Amino acid sequence: MTTFPIDEIRAQFPALARHEHGRPVAYFDGPAGSQVPQSVADAVSRYLLTTNSNRGGVFAVAKESDAIVDAAHQAAATFVGGNDPACTVFGANMTTLTLALSRALGRTWRAGDEVIVTRLDHDANVTPWVLAARDAGATVRHVDVHVEDGTLDVASFHAALSSKTKLVALGYASNVTGTINPLGPMIAAAKQMGALTFIDAVHYAPHGLIDVTALGCDFLACSAYKFFGPHVGLLYGRRELLESLTPYKLRVSSNDLPGKWMTGTQAHESLAGVAAAVSYLANLGRHCGSVTTERAAIESAFTAIHGYEQLLSAHMLAGLRTLSGYRVWGITDPARIAERVPTFSLTHARFTPRELAERLAAEGLYVWCGNHYGLPFTEAAGLEPHGTLRIGLLHYNTIEEVDRVLEALRHIDQ
Ligand SMILES: Cc1ncc(COP(=O)(O)O)c(C=O)c1O
Repeated sequence: MTTFPIDEIRAQFPALARHEHGRPVAYFDGPAGSQVPQSVADAVSRYLLTTNSNRGGVFAVAKESDAIVDAAHQAAATFVGGNDPACTVFGANMTTLTLALSRALGRTWRAGDEVIVTRLDHDANVTPWVLAARDAGATVRHVDVHVEDGTLDVASFHAALSSKTKLVALGYASNVTGTINPLGPMIAAAKQMGALTFIDAVHYAPHGLIDVTALGCDFLACSAYKFFGPHVGLLYGRRELLESLTPYKLRVSSNDLPGKWMTGTQAHESLAGVAAAVSYLANLGRHCGSVTTERAAIESAFTAIHGYEQLLSAHMLAGLRTLSGYRVWGITDPARIAERVPTFSLTHARFTPRELAERLAAEGLYVWCGNHYGLPFTEAAGLEPHGTLRIGLLHYNTIEEVDRVLEALRHIDQ
């Protein structure tokens, strides 16, 4: 395997050069939003300065703008492993897209129908379905979690699934515990029951290859600002479903895909940035392997990212084991490292997550605290109202940064 080009990667992210009090800062806040490479910022700025226009104009700049938006749909389709650019929809963020989809799907539900959500999900993959079910008079079933290791209680999923189930909403990876859910068998079981599946891939997207075709899911949502792009969400849906469902939309807006699902004027500059974020990953993939297609380049990037992040995870878990006073909420067994992404939630016996985060921030270590909107888990684990301290690693983080945060945690406990 080629050595992971960490120095070349970091050089592309201007934010990583930030210093505070004479020391470099370390960004462990990726789960709340990743930093962006220069190429993404350039694409956004280039769009605004040279091709800024609304859709469908007859003049040159409008046509250039349309081409950029079309390319963004293609890039998003390639990123999620779908072949059809018309089946990737953009919107303000994952939450807004999911609320819109839940309203459209909810119109097809009746009293007696059931919807399954999980206690390991971000609230954006729970409340939209709960609200739509409420409006339709449908019933919501909640899949439990094993609080000890932050994993889904898959048996409780199978117990909830029945011929009444209309939709199963699952997370790809937890933004609190880092757990990667075993989606394959759950999607297959849902399909067998005739239920639709919606996957929240927001937290997984910067860490691993998404392949909607291999997953066999009906819908999948993620957010570009978590995978090195700008603040915009994207939703993949199977063509037949996107065509047959009726979203809330204006009379004047398109009845075709993808426009039917994209209400109002989009943030075109951000869409230019999405394509640039996907290109950034593809370029990394080309650097790490010999590939011919854009999709293969993305696959190669995630193979490299996955290998590197596993090293970071192993180092982090080994270090956390040497600390006293802290509890890690999630998988800690080094033999099970493949079941998690490098997102670590901690609590301390004496300090609240906010106090810990403030102490770390004072040293230029950027971490997050609270429930991270993963409220179902923090409630199930009895972690409200303080939640956890979350240290999120991405492929631009280093072993040295991990050592720094571990040392700072050790120091706080002394
Ligand atoms: C797992 C997960 N799902 C959904 C969301 C919501 O995404 P957005 O901010 O794009 O609405 C987040 C945001 O943090 C998340 O981490």
